[in-house]
Amino acid sequence: MALVLGIDTSCDDTGIGLVRGSEVVANVVASQTSLHNRFGGVVPEQASREHLNVMDAVLDKALAQATATLDDVDAVAATYGPGLVGALLVGLTYGRALAWSRGLPFLPIHHLEGHIASTLASGEVQPPFLCLIASGGHTSLFDVPTWGTYREVGATRDDAAGEAFDKVARLLGLPYPGGPALSHLAEGGSPEAFDLPRPLRNQRGFDFSFSGLKTAIVTLLQQTSDADPADVAASFEEAVTDSLVTTTRRAAEATGRERLVVAGGVAANRRLRARFQNERFKVYVPPLELTTDNGAMIALAAQLRLDLGTTSDWTVDAQPYLPLASTSDPSAPPERDRLQPVGNISTQNPKGL
Ligand code: KG4
Ligand code: ZN
Repeated sequence: MALVLGIDTSCDDTGIGLVRGSEVVANVVASQTSLHNRFGGVVPEQASREHLNVMDAVLDKALAQATATLDDVDAVAATYGPGLVGALLVGLTYGRALAWSRGLPFLPIHHLEGHIASTLASGEVQPPFLCLIASGGHTSLFDVPTWGTYREVGATRDDAAGEAFDKVARLLGLPYPGGPALSHLAEGGSPEAFDLPRPLRNQRGFDFSFSGLKTAIVTLLQQTSDADPADVAASFEEAVTDSLVTTTRRAAEATGRERLVVAGGVAANRRLRARFQNERFKVYVPPLELTTDNGAMIALAAQLRLDLGTTSDWTVDAQPYLPLASTSDPSAPPERDRLQPVGNISTQNPKGL
């Protein structure tokens, strides 16, 4: 079976992974968290430089993990968007040069298709399914009737879910990225301690909104100076998971999908995973180490693309803003037509999806 190498440098993690079919044989991620921590967020220029610094070492480590050499690699893939353009360019150029110099096929991969494909590492998941992607840069619901066809049925109108976790964690004095730290703190608090808003509760569509929730926490902290941080964290986590689960449930009912894939960094959240287990649809989540950005998920998506008959593409450029639906299936009908069946869907998307 072919050995596929995948690279992701869309943000602040340098990820290189290797897969054979749906088996992940290597997954190495060099995190830049300590570099950006003191700024409270990712500094794009620093991220690009650091990707360049560590790329060779990450590749060597991934090959060693797979007990392979470059001679064993059959295809190379890299994320081409969306993401930070300078960071994307490093991985894309590196991957393309590697493939070209060794006469291998090269596949540019959409970052979100990588997140969706990451679930393949947990076992067999077959379309049709609904997919919730919740990460630091994206929060969207996709209907996936077949591999390679992605219809966005809902998206955040403001902050992504992970972004909300990061911002509220910062308000609570927790380090970046805030999701894991806030979630850990929430374990000692009560989810019912504070009654926080559930934005868009009465909408007909399937969008999300999290910026009001962040404002509610700012107000809460100003008005209740003795609020237990663990209670604040637990109530916030409950509000986010409630919004994600409720809207996803409604979308599943509207589309008739019985399978749900949950991917992206926020899919690591234990409370969210637990809440979804109580729903009537079957839930598929990636292994924990593949929820946040990594190269193996890009290799898994490339394997899918190879199975669909996709061949090399040397022409694409790094794309900071890139909708998934219109790029992944060139033969599919235009986006607007494909969005019709579910109705009342927002096309507004500040995150570039
Ligand atoms: O997918 P990802 O690595 O990067 C993007 O593509 O954005 O997601 C990172 C995001 C961060 O915002 C981080 O705070 C969040 O995922 N995250 C979590 C958890 N682990 C990571 N959010 C909530 N609970 C977690 N356990
Ligand atoms: Zn991501």
